[in-house]
Amino acid sequence: QQVEFVKGAVSMETLPPDELPEACFAGRSNVGKSSLVNMICNRKKLAFTSKTPGKTQSREPHIRRHGPVHLFASLNSLLLLRFHLVDLPGVGYAEVPKAKKVEWLRFYRDYLSHRKSLRIFFQLVDGRHGPLQDDVELMKLFAESSSKNPNQVAHAIVITKMDKTLSAKVLALFLLLPALPDSAGQAQEGVMDKVRRTLSEAGCDEETPVLLTSSASKLGRGDVWNYLQLALQD
Ligand code: GTP
Ligand code: MG
Repeated sequence: QQVEFVKGAVSMETLPPDELPEACFAGRSNVGKSSLVNMICNRKKLAFTSKTPGKTQSREPHIRRHGPVHLFASLNSLLLLRFHLVDLPGVGYAEVPKAKKVEWLRFYRDYLSHRKSLRIFFQLVDGRHGPLQDDVELMKLFAESSSKNPNQVAHAIVITKMDKTLSAKVLALFLLLPALPDSAGQAQEGVMDKVRRTLSEAGCDEETPVLLTSSASKLGRGDVWNYLQLALQD
């Protein structure tokens, strides 16, 4: 697989022409979007990650030069696929100013409604706590906006940072702590159930796929690729 940085953008007008099928990664700041892009491309530093929320939209010179929406072109010779991967700026985090959140929600809305090449919207949710208010808002936004797009946009929920959830549960098991959840399996089901309930409350399809991932352990890499491939080849 070859992958290269194409362009940063700040708005619909500054996006490159929509000539290649596109897959995007969306979600709250710090949820792990950039890390997931790196994980599925098998790269360490393709997309810029940081402990500090909002780094994809930061004012650092090398990022500002391009803008916070980062597009990568990928050529997968095994799958004979050429497409764009889009690392979106995070929305909704206490330390990101409200005005920024509004600005990016507006961009998300336009992008979902009008980007003709968009094939799949991977929406990331932090596995440590499941969907929060900002995630629900984003699900609603997807349901409303993608229906206006003349082309079909697939939706998949990606639960991130499962290594943190799993290791905590496994450790608890190992120490035989009684009051903690019974097993890692149950912890996973808990997050899955929460996500399913939230999807239906937000007006999204209840059959939306929910994938469990960890960029640290590469859990779910194959699943993300399967859905990518399905959506891009449709
Ligand atoms: P913004 O660009 O600010 O919106 O954030 P982002 O969603 O791109 O998150 P990013 O990939 O920069 O990750 C944020 C922090 O979470 C970084 O410190 C990552 O190392 C960490 N992180 C991301 N994914 C995982 C994961 O699967 N496991 C663990 N343990 N840490 C992760
Ligand atoms: Mg990022």
